[in-house]
Amino acid sequence: FLGIVAPETLFRIILSKPGFERNPEELELVYEELMHIKAFSHLSTMVKRQLSYVVELQQFAHAGSIVFRQGDRGNHWYIVLKGGVEVSIHGKGPVCALREGDDFGKLALVNDLPRAATITTLEDDSQFLVVDKHHFNQILREVEANTVRLREFGEDVLVLEKIDIPRGAAVDNTHSFSHCGYSVMAGRAEKILEYVLETRIDAHSDDLTEIDVFLEDFILTHEAFMSTNAVCNFLKSYYFRPAYKAGEVPSMDEMEEVCSKRRVVKFVTIWSSLLRLNFFLHPAANSFIEELYCHVIDDQKRIEGMRDIVVTMTALRSTRESVQRILARHPATVLDCGVLSAHMPTPILPTDICNQIIHLSDTTCFVLSIRLDKTAGEICELSRRRLRNHSLEPLLLVEVKSNGEKIIFAPTDRAIPTMLSLNSKLYVVFEDEVNCLDALFDQNGPTESVHSSILQLIDAHELAHQLFCFHIQLVQSTHTCELISQVIGRESFPAHTPFNLDLLVRRFNEVQYWATSEVLLATDATRVEILKKFIKIAAFAKQNQDLLTTFAIILGLSHISVSRLSHTWNRLSSKVKKQFAEFEALLDPSRNHRAYRMLIHKMAAPYTPFVPILLKDLAFLHQGNKSFYNGLVNFEKMHMLANVLRTYRQCKSSFNGEDTHRTFADSQSLIRNLRVIDNQRRLMQLSYKIEPRAG
Ligand code: CMP
Repeated sequence: FLGIVAPETLFRIILSKPGFERNPEELELVYEELMHIKAFSHLSTMVKRQLSYVVELQQFAHAGSIVFRQGDRGNHWYIVLKGGVEVSIHGKGPVCALREGDDFGKLALVNDLPRAATITTLEDDSQFLVVDKHHFNQILREVEANTVRLREFGEDVLVLEKIDIPRGAAVDNTHSFSHCGYSVMAGRAEKILEYVLETRIDAHSDDLTEIDVFLEDFILTHEAFMSTNAVCNFLKSYYFRPAYKAGEVPSMDEMEEVCSKRRVVKFVTIWSSLLRLNFFLHPAANSFIEELYCHVIDDQKRIEGMRDIVVTMTALRSTRESVQRILARHPATVLDCGVLSAHMPTPILPTDICNQIIHLSDTTCFVLSIRLDKTAGEICELSRRRLRNHSLEPLLLVEVKSNGEKIIFAPTDRAIPTMLSLNSKLYVVFEDEVNCLDALFDQNGPTESVHSSILQLIDAHELAHQLFCFHIQLVQSTHTCELISQVIGRESFPAHTPFNLDLLVRRFNEVQYWATSEVLLATDATRVEILKKFIKIAAFAKQNQDLLTTFAIILGLSHISVSRLSHTWNRLSSKVKKQFAEFEALLDPSRNHRAYRMLIHKMAAPYTPFVPILLKDLAFLHQGNKSFYNGLVNFEKMHMLANVLRTYRQCKSSFNGEDTHRTFADSQSLIRNLRVIDNQRRLMQLSYKIEPRAG
């Protein structure tokens, strides 16, 4: 019998028998055939031998037969042996064709989710090798190719990578969707979002407590590759995914239609709950909620099963209304002539104002009340009106730092007052006046200690507490949206201009220069005590987990102008010196700041971060990795950015704001505004005066 039948036919005959009925000779023949199949080429001999027992044959007599439908449970993996298939997706129709040697149907098995596409045969007598789910998991799951490329209209649209999650392993319950076996490495932005919606949002429950890591990564980083407008537009089209026309592929049934709508509403709810105020600050996102609400209300009249969606959407709409009230609050003053206002709001909104001193080249000045969302160009025009200058000659907005460095702002730059360095002055000048600008004497900062009484009268424990209360408020006000905006280019995100982050960074610098300035400005009689006091404050701050204060003080005291004062340092007790040496070790940049990372690794929230490292990590990831490769979003970069943003989110979680608010209110002005010297030359001059240069 074996001798007279063509090997091809024989192969098919054997495959139609169950594995246990195949004799050794037949198994050998199947094995030899499997050796020539592209989809198996990377598998070991042993795996191919195991497959010879379990692989089956499925045949479809006519073109247009449905192998399975999108949304079905996945029970098999397929390899095209003969003929071909068309892959179709709801809302898109046919997206690609697969031919002999290609495989399909792995996603549903590895992700443990419904089929992502409908598969229809393209030719009569299409034949497939089929491995059932049980054997796929047993033999292939671990060894199957780690990457999967999905194509649409002739181009790669999604590159997936298998993530190792041992089956049955206990999953972190904050990320319970992590059973999905494939994560995105790269893809078209819309396809990534489609994959998020279909694999990370449970369309069959109204539970909103589960937030998957991949979903969170998308929400935290999407501005880097897909604008909020584009996300809203895609969600809208997904919400209205058209059913197929008769004669094409079977239309989406009502259940599936409701699932698509539920996915969109759940996605938007999670998105807004992660971004909170910042979500509604974006005009497109804000109006999308209202639009979506109208569609949901409309749809419930004609579609069954929308009740839970209406409930979720109504809740979202009322969240929107209450946030709108916060956003419409009376504008508050943030900075009053460079001084943080006692009533500075947390968080700051774009409609808040700064009373900014505007200097002119003739040494006169005036105060301008500037809304934070005003651009440099608008500030110039406001100044022109104020000066009653009717010329058409362009005006420039220039920052002059205490060391004389000049920064000319682009007309579109925003949040100028919060961006200024500590002792800078802001000028409005004509172009030919820029060269004449220089730092003025008062930009040198104080000439004698301004805060010595605070430092001497209030104990270190209390000061550290006051600093912590203020800093945790600044951290609470600064959202990850601002970090992304700062790192990727603040000019591209008018809705998320990082005012709050500006103040956080400004504060770090202020505390750092405060420590340096106070030691240098102290009298000879008090200098050692002041130095000791700062080391003590840093120690209490570390206990409070206020790393912003700890690191700012350590950096301030490590500034060369202070660290070179050997007579002062020698007068510290060995215990205090040892403590400072331990602190300095935390600044050690080796092994990518391992000492700092180990420290925060052990910390439970809330804590304030070492802000410069946070920004450095993000900038390093952003500059060192392209956002797009060959037109596909490099989502591995987004995973990495999101990991940093997540540590930031975690540092401020479980924080009870009310406690610190109350305590802090008693003595808030004490340490909110620190007068400092931020000019390196001036700091060195003071240092040499205290201990002249050797020789
Ligand atoms: P699965 O979701 O199990 O079932 C449908 C299959 O179609 C899917 O696995 C992929 O193997 C295959 N497929 C091919 N191209 C695409 C695509 N662009 N989008 C989704 N699935 C696709």
